[in-house]
Amino acid sequence: MQNNVLILDFGSQYTQLIARRVRELNIYCEIHPYNKLPEHVSDFKAVILSGSPFSVRSEDAPHPDLSEIRGKKPLLAVCYGAQYLAHFSGGEVAPSNTREYGRANLSFVKENEQFFAGIDIGSQVWMSHSDTIKQLPSGAVKLASTSDVENAAYRIEDEDTYAIQFHPEVYHSTDGKKLLENFLLQIAGVQPDWTPNSFVDVTVAELKEKLGNDKVVLGLSGGVDSTVAAVLLHKAIGANLHCIFVNNGLLRKNEFSAVLNRYEGMGLNVKGVDASARFLEALAGESDPEKKRKIIGNIFIDVFDDEAHKIEDAKWLGQGTIYPDVIESISVNGPSATIKSHHNVGGLPDFMKLKVVEPLRMLFKDEVRRVGASMGLDPELLGRHPFPGPGLAIRILGDITSEKVNILQEVDAIFINGLKENGLYDKVWQAGAILLPVQSVGVMGDERTYENCVALRAVESTDGMTADWVNLPYEFLQKTSNAIINRVKGVNRVVYDISSKPPATIEWE
Ligand code: XMP
Repeated sequence: MQNNVLILDFGSQYTQLIARRVRELNIYCEIHPYNKLPEHVSDFKAVILSGSPFSVRSEDAPHPDLSEIRGKKPLLAVCYGAQYLAHFSGGEVAPSNTREYGRANLSFVKENEQFFAGIDIGSQVWMSHSDTIKQLPSGAVKLASTSDVENAAYRIEDEDTYAIQFHPEVYHSTDGKKLLENFLLQIAGVQPDWTPNSFVDVTVAELKEKLGNDKVVLGLSGGVDSTVAAVLLHKAIGANLHCIFVNNGLLRKNEFSAVLNRYEGMGLNVKGVDASARFLEALAGESDPEKKRKIIGNIFIDVFDDEAHKIEDAKWLGQGTIYPDVIESISVNGPSATIKSHHNVGGLPDFMKLKVVEPLRMLFKDEVRRVGASMGLDPELLGRHPFPGPGLAIRILGDITSEKVNILQEVDAIFINGLKENGLYDKVWQAGAILLPVQSVGVMGDERTYENCVALRAVESTDGMTADWVNLPYEFLQKTSNAIINRVKGVNRVVYDISSKPPATIEWE
C-alpha cells in the first residue's frame, strides 16, 4: 500500500477524525501509536501529531522520539502536538487561565502565509485544551491568535513544521479542511491520488499476489462490509473464494432468500446454509440477552466450521474487518479488554486456525461504501441500515419461539417497507421493531382481545455510539400502526420509542 501521511496518535478522541478528514482529501494516511513508530517512517511524505488527554507537563505524558521526523519531513502538530514541540524546544506551556474549550474565532492571521491561504480573520476554530502555550519555542513565527489564545498557530523558521492549538479535524473548525489541504497539498506536496478506483486496482493486484491459487473461505452476513470484502476477493481470485451465508432463523422477513439471490446474481460462489432450526432449538427457553448472544455466537461458529471443512484445502479466512476495529486493536490505550468468549474455550475451531485476509482493514465505513459503489454494487445494498448479528433474537424481549419470530418479521417488514415507500428510509440510520413481553387489552370488532405490544424504533446516528430518535411524521406513524394492528395477528398495540442514546441504547436488549 502507498505510504502517504503518518498520523502519530497520542490518544486523542479526535485522532480518527483527523484520518477521515485527510482521506476526504483523497490522501491516504495511517494512524500509528506514538510509542510504536512504523518501520519505514522515511516512506511517509508528511506527519501529523494528534492531540492527547495528557498535559505535556505531566511525567507520564507521551514523549515521542521525533528524531527521524522533525526537520526532515513536513510536520503538522495539533493541540498536544503543538504544546509538545513548544515545551521541549525552548517555549513554555502552562495551565491556561481562560476558558479554552469550544468555539473561538481567529482574531489575527499573519499575511502571505501558504498555511493560512484562503482563511481569513474571523474564521471559527474549535479549541479543546486546558494547557496553553505561553511562549513559543525558539525559531517560531506566530501565525494566528484568537482573543483568548495568543499562540493559536505557529511555524518554525527554515523547517516545514507547523503547529496549531485548535482542532482542524472537528466540524466546528469551519476552515479546518482548507488548512489540512494547504498543509498536505501545498506545503507537503502530497498527491491526492487515494480514490476508490485506485484502491480497488491496488488491492486486487495485492490480493492476487498474496493468495495465488489458494482457496479462501468467507462468511457473508448480508451487510455492507462482508459483501464489499467478498466482491474484492472475487475480483482477485474468482471461484477460489468460497462464501458461506448462514440463516440463523432470526433474519428479517424473506431476507435469507433475497440476499442469497442477490449474491448469486453478483456471480459470487456462495453457499446458503439454512440452520434456523438448530439456532431456535438451542435458544428455546432462554431469556437472558447475553446468554442468547452467546448461544447464537457458538452455534454460528459450529455451523460455519462444519461448512468450512467441506471446502478442501482452504488456506485463508476472509474477513470484512474495517479500520476502526484495527485502530482499536493497536490503540495507545492497548487493545480492548474484552476477549471474545470463544477464545477461551480450549481448542479453537479449525477455521479460526486459517490465515486471515482482510481487504478492508485500512478503510473507514464511508470509504467501504464508496469502494462498493465504484465496483458497481447496488446502491440499495450499500445504503442498508445496520442490523445486529444476533438479529431479531435481541428484539424479542424474553424467550424466543418461532411464532414470536414470525410476528416480529411481519411487523418489521411493514415498518421498514413503509419507511422505504415514504422516502424516509435513507433519512434514518437504523430502524426496527421490538416485540415486548407485554400483553394488553384491546377490542377488535365486538371482541375483547388480550394481545402483544410492539415498539417501533428509528434513530439518527453516525456510528451507533450516540443516537437520537427520529421525529417521524405523525401521519406515517398513524398509517404504520394501523397496518400493523390490522394485518399482524397477535398484535393489538403499537408504541414509538422516543429515547435517545445515551442514556438508552439503540437495541432494547
Ligand atoms: P446499542 O444497542 O448498543 O447498539 O446502542 C449499537 C449498535 O450495535 C448494534 N448491536 C449489535 N450488533 N451484535 C451485533 O452485531 C450485537 O450483539 C449487537 N448489539 C447491538 C445495534 O444494532 C446498533 O447498530
